[in-house]
Amino acid sequence: YNERESLFIILNFAAQYFKGLLHEHEEGKSIGLSYFKERGFSNNTIEEFDLGYSLNEWDGFLKAAKKAGHSEELLEKAGLIIKKEDKTYDRFRNRVIFPIHSVAGKPIAFGARILINDKKQPKYINSPETEVYHKSDVLYGIAQAKQHIRTLENCYLVEGYTDVISLHQSGVKNVVASSGTSLTTNQIRLISRYSENITVLFDGDAAGIKASLRGIDLILEGGLNVKVVLFPDGEDPDSYSRKMGDEEFSSYLKNNATDFIRFKSDLLLEETKKDPIKKAETIQDIVRSIAKIPNPVKRAIYIKECSNILEIDEALLITEQNKILLREK
Ligand code: CTP
Ligand code: MN
Ligand code: MN
Ligand code: MN
Ligand code: MN
Repeated sequence: YNERESLFIILNFAAQYFKGLLHEHEEGKSIGLSYFKERGFSNNTIEEFDLGYSLNEWDGFLKAAKKAGHSEELLEKAGLIIKKEDKTYDRFRNRVIFPIHSVAGKPIAFGARILINDKKQPKYINSPETEVYHKSDVLYGIAQAKQHIRTLENCYLVEGYTDVISLHQSGVKNVVASSGTSLTTNQIRLISRYSENITVLFDGDAAGIKASLRGIDLILEGGLNVKVVLFPDGEDPDSYSRKMGDEEFSSYLKNNATDFIRFKSDLLLEETKKDPIKKAETIQDIVRSIAKIPNPVKRAIYIKECSNILEIDEALLITEQNKILLREK
């Protein structure tokens, strides 16, 4: 085997190991499995996402992996163990495990959640960058979602692991997560293999909204169509989908998917009402987003819509847009 192949074998071993603990080990069952059950995850869901558990021990995984013949050197390269001068120990300990899969469905990394929120420790610990895991190229849930995205001609984009899993369980299966980082062009390119429509579902807090605005411009630059659904403050797609029934939740998504231009206009106009200088800046901001769309016909349609929403002469908006386009050439 070359090194990449060996890493895949080790990562697969680790995924099986964590999964085995969740289903067969007393600690895994009483702590890990009950955690997932309390979150409302069904057995099917736990199986489909290959969820697991890591023991409350320094080197439980390390020992098992060495016993199975895997070298410390490769275990470290796979991001699974940490080597300090005098000690070597498991990266993931006493956490529930979310394997991150490649498009083809092979485990390439892990996210690990703490069991009880604690300000002294990070909520999630994730695999580092490795030879087979480049965070900015990967979308959590793509293996489970890809066919659904193609069939439904839309991809829902969420922030977190649990958002993907809860939506999938509630029947919304065309969903992937950027996993807490801002969206990248490679992630958008990956979605575009399956659909050119993205609906962004971000957490209903200030950080979520800000992240969605940045994401929208990148999606537009990639030539894809983008809609946005906002959730009430303090809710994320996971919490909100569990609060509502499946039917109610899917109608919420359908009824609240707003075209980006309307979303951005509403949001920005709300902030700048009655202030002409701020309104002018807002319009610039929206036109700048429209100017990112590669397709000139789509740009023209958005300019027209923008003119209606903002009550600004269309010709003026076109002039503004052309200035931006010339500047960027
Ligand atoms: N994240 C991370 N490290 C953290 C916090 C968050 O990697 N310390 C990533 C995870 O991929 C997480 C996503 O950012 O799923 C969204 O973060 P957040 O909304 O805080 O977590 P949730 O996914 O909502 O997790 P939970 O519902 O379990 O609190
Ligand atoms: Mn499925
Ligand atoms: Mn958040
Ligand atoms: Mn969240
Ligand atoms: Mn959450």
